[in-house]
Order: sequence, then C-alpha cells, then structure tokens
Amino acid sequence: MTFSDRLSRFGDEVFASLDQQRLALESEGNTLYNLSIGTPDFIPAESIRKALAEAAMDPMNWRYALRDTPELLTAVCEYYLHRFGVSISPDMICSCYGSQEGIGHIGMVLCNEGDTVLLPSPCYPVFMAGAKMAGAEPRYYPMTKENGFLPKLEDIPADIADKAKYMLVSLPSNPMGSVGTPEFYNALISFARAHDLLIIHDNAYSDILYDGEQGNSFLSYPGARDVGVEFFSLSKSFNLTGARISFLIGRPDVVAAFRKLRSQIDFGMFLPLQKAAIAALSQPRSAVIEQCRQYEERRNTLCDGLTDIGWPVPRNKGSMFVWAPLPSGYSSSMDFCMKLMKEAHVICTPGASFGPLGEGYVRFALVLPPHELKNAICSIATSGILKGDHHE
Ligand SMILES: Cc1ncc(COP(=O)(O)O)c(C=O)c1O
Repeated sequence: MTFSDRLSRFGDEVFASLDQQRLALESEGNTLYNLSIGTPDFIPAESIRKALAEAAMDPMNWRYALRDTPELLTAVCEYYLHRFGVSISPDMICSCYGSQEGIGHIGMVLCNEGDTVLLPSPCYPVFMAGAKMAGAEPRYYPMTKENGFLPKLEDIPADIADKAKYMLVSLPSNPMGSVGTPEFYNALISFARAHDLLIIHDNAYSDILYDGEQGNSFLSYPGARDVGVEFFSLSKSFNLTGARISFLIGRPDVVAAFRKLRSQIDFGMFLPLQKAAIAALSQPRSAVIEQCRQYEERRNTLCDGLTDIGWPVPRNKGSMFVWAPLPSGYSSSMDFCMKLMKEAHVICTPGASFGPLGEGYVRFALVLPPHELKNAICSIATSGILKGDHHE
C-alpha cells in the first residue's frame, strides 16, 4: 500500500522511547510523577457535568446538531463581553472539536500548496501539523529567552512577512509560559496591517496568568478584529479537555470560510456538549480564579523547589507549563528526560520535541498538587542526577 505524500510530511512519534520506558517502570510497580502531558487534573464544575448528563438523557439531543445553536452562540457572545469587554456577533463564531482540530484544519482554509506561513519556534506541535496538512511552507520566528520568549517582530524579514498568508501567535505560550503585553499586541496589529497578514491568535491559556496579570482576548486590542481571529478553548479554563470544545472567533469572512470547510466533514457538535459549554460559559468566574491561584501555587512550588536543590528554574508568567533550562552538564533534552524518568521517576517533555530552539530545555506540566510536586523534587534531589558524576 502506498500512502499519500501528505502523510509523509509527518515524522515518527518522538515519544515512543519515553513511553516504553514509562510502561516498563510502571510494570515494575514504581510510582511515577507524570508531569509530561498538559491535561489538567482539576475537574469540571458539577453544574457543567450535570448540564451534559441531563441533556444526554433527552433522546432528541442525539440527532445531528448540524450547527451551533443560537443559545450557544449567545453564551459565547455574552462571555466575550463580560470576560474580555469584547462585543462580538454570532457570525464571528464557529465551534470546533478543540483548538487542536481547528488549528489542524485552518491552514487548508487559508493556504494553497507552497504558501508561506509564520510560526513560532519553539512551537506547539499542531501549529506545524496544520501548516503541513495544508501543504504550506512554515517559516519560523524565534521566541528566545533574550526577548522574554516573545516574538521579536522587527527581526522578521519584511519579504517573508509580505509573502506569509498568516502568522500564528500563541500567548500565554506553550511550552515557554511567556505572556503577551499590550505593547506587543498593538505592535502585532500594526505589523499585520503593514504586511497584509492574517493573525491567528491561539488563546488556550487565557485564564492561567500569574503575579496579578489578567488574561485577555486578542480581539480586545484596537484594530485586532480587522486583522485576525482567535481560537478560544474551554479545555483549560474549565477542564473540559476531553470534551473537545473550542471556538474560532473574529473576522466574519475567515470564520465563514472555516465553517464552510468544516461543514464538508462534520455534522455539528453533539448537543449535550453544546449544553455543557453553555453551562461552563455561564458559571461564576470565582472557580476559574481559584483554579489559577492553585496553578500559581504549583508553579511557585516547582520552580522555587528545583532552584533550591541546585537546578535554577525561573518562574514562568503564565500557562500550565514550566520551561526549565537543562541543569548544568546536560545538553540533550531527550537523554536528560530518559535519565530523569529512570533515576528520579519524574516524567517531563524534552524541549527538542517543540522544534530546534526547544533543545536545551524540558517542559513540566503543572498537573500535580503541591505536595506531590514536593515529593517529585525530593526524588530528583536524592537521585543524584544533578550531581557532577552523573553528567553526560
Ligand atoms: C497552545 C495550545 N493550543 C492548543 C491546545 C489544544 O487545545 P484544545 O484542547 O482546545 O484542542 C493546547 C493544548 O495543550 C495548547 O497548549
């Protein structure tokens, strides 16, 4: 069987060897601290689960939904207004099965084969996959420590920006945990205008910012709605990760084109999930704020705890990830992750899996409570992995 050329654009699973080692350690009865996957351990509010369960009991809700219900669209509009002060209309909204799916497909809406797109490096993997799916040519803009892990717009060559169909920007960022500033977003909008470029803003962590910072919508900045769209996910704010609910929001022409592509392959979001989304969007904000506080406590525990045992890890500003430079003496993030798992029973993600600029780092997901993070830190300290005699 010969498979498509499209399929050959995707590499092999980089995590296979990490996974094998994890399974072997688990089968020997070891307790592992798994900080590799960004799926929250927090649970959805009872009101959300109830809304889903009750709607699922109604047999009429098992038909094809075919569209986003007016009730759901109203709930999204009201949420954007109250949460972000952004007034949107139903023609500016289209649901999708998670931002992952939406970003995976949007390249096909916007690009022809060979078109240029601008992506961050390091990069959340579906950004690359979406470009490849569309046959687009990714050009990467660096997000380096020297610039606070933010895009440096003035360093993007003008001819590449002129050619690019879209620029994907995702802040708070995964894996680096950096956070956008109003100055950055205003400059981004001017940049998009100057180069006739569509901005796709991925706002997966709009409710996970620390040190008193408030998350925002890209669309809240003047002029943003003329140059961009935003993916708004319910996965992390409301812990609906497995339910796969997200929305593309913004410029009506782009949203209509996205809806057109999706309608070729999809019959609409399961109606009980639409009810769950409405319940999530209508719940009081206090639960989301409290959850962010708990993420912050985890961040402090992990970053400060690792620093205290001789592995200096700066505090990230947002997202549910800590981006840790490799301890001194190590240079391969994959080798270090294998060793950390084997010797300290702590699992994290090699920075190299986010692209070449991710090498030299590992990513920890803040998916365990502080007392377990402390145990993980103790395990790292006692393993001796940070000591000179264990180095590569
Ligand atoms: C930056 C970023 N975008 C998108 C996603 C996927 O979100 P969703 O669950 O809505 O598909 C993630 C998940 O970790 C993410 O980190």
